[in-house]
Amino acid sequence: MPAKKKPAPRKHDAITVSVIKADIGGYVGHSASHPDILALADELLGRARDEGLLVDYHVTNVGDDLDLIMTHRHGNNSRKIHRLAWDVFMEGTKLARELCLHGAGQDMLADSFSGNVKGMGPGCAEMTFVERKAEPIIVFAGDKCAPGAWNLPLYRMFADPFNTIGLVIDPSMHDGFIFEVHDVHGGQDIKLACPEQMYDLLVLIGSPENYVIKNIYTRKGEVAAASSTQKLALIAGRYVGKDDPVMIVRCQSGLPAVGEALEPFAFPHMVSGWMRGSHYGPMMPTSRAQATPSRFDGPPRVIACGFQLACGRLVGPRDMFDDPSFDLARQKCNEVADYIRRHGPFEPHRLGLHDMEYTTLPQVLAKLKGLKPHKRSSGTWGRV
Ligand code: F6R
Ligand code: MG
Ligand code: MG
Repeated sequence: MPAKKKPAPRKHDAITVSVIKADIGGYVGHSASHPDILALADELLGRARDEGLLVDYHVTNVGDDLDLIMTHRHGNNSRKIHRLAWDVFMEGTKLARELCLHGAGQDMLADSFSGNVKGMGPGCAEMTFVERKAEPIIVFAGDKCAPGAWNLPLYRMFADPFNTIGLVIDPSMHDGFIFEVHDVHGGQDIKLACPEQMYDLLVLIGSPENYVIKNIYTRKGEVAAASSTQKLALIAGRYVGKDDPVMIVRCQSGLPAVGEALEPFAFPHMVSGWMRGSHYGPMMPTSRAQATPSRFDGPPRVIACGFQLACGRLVGPRDMFDDPSFDLARQKCNEVADYIRRHGPFEPHRLGLHDMEYTTLPQVLAKLKGLKPHKRSSGTWGRV
């Protein structure tokens, strides 16, 4: 690999952090990404950095999801950057097919690129800002879960003083934050200010399948957090895998401290996803090495890559959950997983009917409705 180029010192220029991810094939099954795919992505992004398109990049994975973490000067929704990510996923898909990986090209829902990866399968979280003197960021990436998985931890980071003491004792955080919430089914975005609209916010984000926190801003309008909000099932109109979201959180100096941003994950909250994207299960914070969902294709995982930005250069990552202080969360997660697994195909382990709408349920119902009525003393079954 060529040596990293020294970045031009342009700290005052806006920098964009783009995290674009896709599941382009699993190794083995849906449990991890193949090392050759990671190496290929690294090579392709390295070339883009050497050509000056990217300032810097880091390639990682959580389970079967390939995450491209990129910094550049082209702003959010840049056609060039989205095209680059798309091309990396397409090349990766070719290799995945050669290796006969499972579900090769799973998230590549369009045949060709058309301007922006959003709506085409891959997930994307982006933010543009002027780098502070020290700019710590954490990139969180989840596997076997849906975008709403970030609602509870984001709420706790930016609105809950029992998690983030900075909201109480740091004057620069005391006014709270603005939450931008995406209505997944309705399509519109709603802005709510905390603490004053906290209860309104909770009505919405307490339903993570329907409302997803998209961005969080300071009172001055600075972006503080950004998440990916795509729902693959809705894009494809049928079940094609869970969305496995990513998010970026800026930390310190008027924003949650790194420890406050990690603290919500000490509680393994329930998320939808897990086996066949159709179950509730606890989210386990792990090191990257342990982000290999295996038991019942899970439980859902989250990794946290910490970086300091240096004129856009990604200094890091530090593998933030590779720490014994998260051992109890992992143990609790296993206990909860064990308990809820005993429900087998019953709710509340299996998702409710509404969320199964995008799985096999319509086909099952159609099949049952198509059955010839058969006579029973209690009435008919099949044609209702
Ligand atoms: C969930 C997931 C897996 C698969 C399951 C069946 O997000 O990726 O749990 O749904 O392994 O996979 P297929 O249908 O590929 O056999
Ligand atoms: Mg997969
Ligand atoms: Mg996945």
